[in-house]
Amino acid sequence: MVRRSQILGCGSYLPERVITNDEMAELVDTSDEWITARTGIKKRHIAADGEKTSDLALHAATAALSAAGVSVDDLDMIVLATATPDETFPATATVVQAELGMTRGFAFDVQAVCSGFVYGMAVADNFLKVGQADTALVIGAETFSRILDWSDRGTCVLFGDGAGAVVLKSENGDGGPEDRGILATRLHADGRKHDMLYVDGGPSSTQSTGHLRMLGKEVFRHAVTNLSSVVLETLDEVGLASSDIDWLVPHQANKRILDSTAKKLKLSPERVIVTVQDHANTSAASVPLALDQATTDGRIKQGDLVLMEAMGGGFTWGACLARW
Ligand code: ACO
Repeated sequence: MVRRSQILGCGSYLPERVITNDEMAELVDTSDEWITARTGIKKRHIAADGEKTSDLALHAATAALSAAGVSVDDLDMIVLATATPDETFPATATVVQAELGMTRGFAFDVQAVCSGFVYGMAVADNFLKVGQADTALVIGAETFSRILDWSDRGTCVLFGDGAGAVVLKSENGDGGPEDRGILATRLHADGRKHDMLYVDGGPSSTQSTGHLRMLGKEVFRHAVTNLSSVVLETLDEVGLASSDIDWLVPHQANKRILDSTAKKLKLSPERVIVTVQDHANTSAASVPLALDQATTDGRIKQGDLVLMEAMGGGFTWGACLARW
């Protein structure tokens, strides 16, 4: 018998305000044609004035708990992945904890930028596996609109705001690849790649929030290589191959990264969940947003093998393999 973290339910939330590519073209020198051809993005959702990361997270968390049929009183822990917290401290996870009415357990943030949700899943899975918690809420929530340089066409067209969440519960399994739940997670970081994707501000450097800076071509190149290798590494850990994957649920950064990664893994496009056209890159929120869509529309079904992967600033990257 081994402890497995089963995924009981998903939820997500996108702010009401939508900005289309045509509207972006009124802000900076760009066009729907350029953005669509280079990224696949058609629109992004932007949080309203005063709407915070915790507000988005709360909507997604409430939906995930309801889908899972789990009460707040049964939750032992909240892991919230974000690079855009409400405040420098306390952790946004604790704000969500209070707003949910959760008065026990523990809550903290994980900061791995776009890989945050996959990092959060790995952290929660390990807490559940060692028996330090039985039920976990993992959230990815971001308001990247707050850290964009809205005059830089090379970055501002790529990102949006949103949140997604899943509820994990520890159940006993046989230890084989047919068990339901998380089968393997793999994480990586390479801090030498800092300058390729970062925010030029923060409490201890500039005492301001700063803006996102990126060397797009370099990020693209590393993303395809790192993502395909971490997917293979994760499958290898449990003796499976990419042909066993029912659904690849990638971080939704750019349609061309998704296509190139799937091609490298010899996965047909029908097996890849793609939502980037609807909400652009929502960083840590993108994998659970895609998961929620694919479970709600019935594509991901019980027993399916689902591979989540992501890469982000740091660089950080990782994957999480689960039997649904
Ligand atoms: N509209 C119109 N033209 C633009 C825009 C825009 N929004 N942005 C840049 N350009 C111009 C550039 O100025 C340049 O013009 P020039 O040739 O006159 O100098 C031209 O387009 C080509 O620019 P490149 O940066 O070389 O374009 P590229 O083909 O590399 O595409 C892009 C840029 C879309 C950012 C691409 O590099 C990319 O997708 N990189 C990955 C970045 C990413 O996804 N980051 C997300 C965070 S990390 C992650 O989540 C994995």
